[in-house]
Amino acid sequence: MCGIVGYVGKKDCTDVLIDALSKLEYRGYDSAGIAVFEKNAIKVEKTKGRLKDLVDKMAEDGKPAGHCGIGHTRWATHGEPSDINSHPHGNKRISIVHNGIIENYKEIKDFLIKEGYGFESETDTETVAKLLDYYYDGNPLDTIIKVLAEIEGSYALGIIFRDFPDRIYAVRKDSPLIVGVGEQENFIASDVPAILKYTRDYYLIEQDEICELTAEHVRIYDTRKNVIEKELQTATWDIDAAEKGGYEHFMLKEIHEQPKAVKMTVSPRVKNGMPDFSETGLTVEKLKQYHQIFVVACGTAMHAGLVSKYVIEKIARIPVIVDIASEFRYREPLIGEGDLLIVISQSGETADTLAALKLGKQLGADTFALVNVVGSSIAREADMVLYTNAGPEISVASTKAYSVQIAAMYLFAFEVAYAKGKITEEECRKYVSELMEIPDYIEKTLECKTICQQTAAKLMNADSLLYIGRGLDYALSMEGSLKLKEISYIHSESYAAGELKHGTISLVTKQMPVIAVATQKGLIEKTISNIKEVKARGAMVVLVCGETLDIEDGVADCIIRLPEVDEILMPAIAAVPLQLIAYYTSVLKGCDVDKPRNLAKSVTVE
Ligand code: AGP
Repeated sequence: MCGIVGYVGKKDCTDVLIDALSKLEYRGYDSAGIAVFEKNAIKVEKTKGRLKDLVDKMAEDGKPAGHCGIGHTRWATHGEPSDINSHPHGNKRISIVHNGIIENYKEIKDFLIKEGYGFESETDTETVAKLLDYYYDGNPLDTIIKVLAEIEGSYALGIIFRDFPDRIYAVRKDSPLIVGVGEQENFIASDVPAILKYTRDYYLIEQDEICELTAEHVRIYDTRKNVIEKELQTATWDIDAAEKGGYEHFMLKEIHEQPKAVKMTVSPRVKNGMPDFSETGLTVEKLKQYHQIFVVACGTAMHAGLVSKYVIEKIARIPVIVDIASEFRYREPLIGEGDLLIVISQSGETADTLAALKLGKQLGADTFALVNVVGSSIAREADMVLYTNAGPEISVASTKAYSVQIAAMYLFAFEVAYAKGKITEEECRKYVSELMEIPDYIEKTLECKTICQQTAAKLMNADSLLYIGRGLDYALSMEGSLKLKEISYIHSESYAAGELKHGTISLVTKQMPVIAVATQKGLIEKTISNIKEVKARGAMVVLVCGETLDIEDGVADCIIRLPEVDEILMPAIAAVPLQLIAYYTSVLKGCDVDKPRNLAKSVTVE
């Protein structure tokens, strides 16, 4: 996905746009650009590379001087990262920035070519810019409405018209967009952190609402040009929450924020020692009726769903089907009335997860969203929503979001198990009480950072690693593997420890380290047998286990011992060393920890 911003007011527009874009680089960072009204003409500066490259370019070309303009930071979808494919796109009359995908851009482009338009870039966005120009009749609102009637797909658009140098237009469909409201200045942005420095007040823009901003006013219209009155939101985040707070990387900060994030997520949902989901509308009566539960998400969020599967099935004895959203939405899933679909998403904007949610709803399931971003598209689409209170997660690699997701799903598991009479109130209280102590255990586990650094030093030159475990340890190992891959670029694979001998063990040599997770008491002996199997084939073994595990010398080359809680809750603890190992490996390899290559924080395209 990409980040879009816009400003109109009395400040130096270029400075504001660059600052705002710097808060959105997590959304995409392979190119950046701005378009600013300068002496009533639209001046565009854009380049491949990071925001810093754009600033350097403007130092050479001259910084646009104006008080109204738009900006963009890109994660390429159509057309490679390049100067010409960078946003903004347009011509002397119109300039636009775009986050999303225009799915019918080819037919529109063919039509415009026949109408005599030329195209410089490979992007779908340029098509929208030229279509705006084609329909432009001197009235921006009419022009935009005509274009919206033709384009299909997802978009958050920032638009400026040369004839109106004092205003910005914006509109969205499926991609996020907010309008920041300041004193004699107004903003558009893909996400709240971009405007926090200037204002906490903002409007959440709904589908196909067209925004007109000048320094003095914000007007919002529907596609029939009716003015829409909206409720102003106020961001509660403090600016530090979106800054690094003294840590070298956002990822390390967010790993250390986990105790607080889990506490802020769980505590408000516990009343008199029992789970309390009343804010969501998920009643005990509803929970009793569900035949099966689907948990659908992407990436780390899906891994959190996997952990919840083991927990819910173990204590609530109800089938849980976990699916990758991009698979679920195309496999004609057997979901319908009487089922509950839970979608998990940190950003609340992941296109595949949003599509899976809509499909589940369409097929008759009740839908429940677990998201971290208030007012996000997924939150607004679901029948019921529970917000995790992790605060903004900036690093592309998800850490605290994972912890709060599994913590919230634990609470859900206890609630549904109690609702279905599978555990007594006393047992439920005990589980809840132990969950409430998890933040302290995570805090204690963070002390293992030194041994994780040492472990990283031993792993950093590996070409490939295996992560192995059984049961909940296997579910957790998937997350450990993803963390390592995405930020250190070392290939790794999570494997069910018991399955290794059916083929994959042929890969194991002394060049392939193995990270084994063994926290589930009933499975530890079997996992240790599997560890011995890979050890016998030369693997360097890192064992993540409880502090009281009695293990003979030589079984593992490195042992990371964890404080012990009820084994069902151990993933909340054992995630920490896996996150830290990945983090330190990435740092040692000199990778860009917070903005790994090829990735973006939230994938709002298919
Ligand atoms: C996790 O480290 C990745 N950044 C990625 O897998 C992410 O979890 C996935 O894209 C889902 O994002 P969401 O939680 O915002 O929906």
